[in-house]
Amino acid sequence: MKGMSGLADYQYMESAVIHGGIYGDDLTGAVNTPIYLTSTFEFDSLGKLRSEWEYSRTGNPTRRALEVLISELEGGNSGFAFASGMAAIDGILHLFQSEDCIIISKNVYGGTFRILNKIYKNFNLSYKIVDTSNLTELEKAFTSEVKAVLLETPANPLLTVTDISAVAEIAKRKGALTIVDNTFMTPYLQRPLELGADIVLHSATKYISGHSDVIAGLVVVKDKELARRLHSIQNGVGAIAGPLDSFLLIRSIKTLAVRMDAHVANAEKLAQALQNHSAVKNIYYPALKTSQGYEIQKKQAKNGGAMISFELEENYDIHKFFKSLKLIALAESLGGVESLICHPASMTHASIPKEIREQVGITDRLIRLSVGIENYNDLYNDLFFAIEGARI
Ligand SMILES: Cc1ncc(COP(=O)(O)O)c(C=O)c1O
Repeated sequence: MKGMSGLADYQYMESAVIHGGIYGDDLTGAVNTPIYLTSTFEFDSLGKLRSEWEYSRTGNPTRRALEVLISELEGGNSGFAFASGMAAIDGILHLFQSEDCIIISKNVYGGTFRILNKIYKNFNLSYKIVDTSNLTELEKAFTSEVKAVLLETPANPLLTVTDISAVAEIAKRKGALTIVDNTFMTPYLQRPLELGADIVLHSATKYISGHSDVIAGLVVVKDKELARRLHSIQNGVGAIAGPLDSFLLIRSIKTLAVRMDAHVANAEKLAQALQNHSAVKNIYYPALKTSQGYEIQKKQAKNGGAMISFELEENYDIHKFFKSLKLIALAESLGGVESLICHPASMTHASIPKEIREQVGITDRLIRLSVGIENYNDLYNDLFFAIEGARI
């Protein structure tokens, strides 16, 4: 792996997160990319720009450093930084047109469902919900209108695993794009472009930021024509990440590898403990041998990540459970250093109508845990004390 910026030489992801994308600064020799807080750049003379930069919506050096960095980490050729994960998804959906249809995987993030169901529906871009982990069902769902498959794996919130290379092979054969939301995994754990996907995206608000202090989105592609169109959409629509947020993300990515290792070490132990506890009815964590997609996850990702979903037995009061937690915060979002817990049916997936939620398995008793990097014993004590206290 050689840095695209050409400034550093390295082979491994742990080095790429630190050295990738840095543009350097000829003026001062600063070791970090400066925060270019400027909306515009001066011309030398009429028709002659002083540098490659003209206007910060079109391109900004701090944002570009982030875009080069994420592109390098995902094994792509071009990266794009947006104002949020939803702005990134919106940017991607602008690639399609009226009468096209997008297949979405069965448990996508509620906002992904909502943008298609509430906004793009008005523009006659339709969607179909398909269990993308079932390749026969997926193959059958293709019609000539289907132009893309947008999937999450492991998906939010049931951690359903989809075989990225198998989907990409089918989609390619049908003339459609494969788009993977890699938010739950990050490029440190899974690299969809290398598995045949055409577009990879992130809610960078999550693990990429890692500190619950930035809202941003990222998109990476390999194909030059897709890159040209995405840049035109990013510039034309203007939902860009600002230079301060771009800087914060570059700073966060430097610790992505060590953070993810710590998240996953805690999650693997907690998932095992939850699975062994009599209060837990169902547990969803793709690194458990008994989980759906265990073998596929092992093949396409480094490990199972740090998101766990579970249901408590009927004789546990989930309101009492949430109320008794002291360290783990009840909040939307995920991927921060602090552990967060949520109730998908009333929070992250509330925008999906109840009948569809139930069809796809998001019950009112489902709990989703984003495992942070606190000490394992503190997390264990908080979680299991709250479970014990919730017994009816
Ligand atoms: C998997 C996934 N994709 C996309 C999004 C949207 O990202 P953002 O909240 O940054 O707009 C989220 C947000 O929770 C998410 O979990």
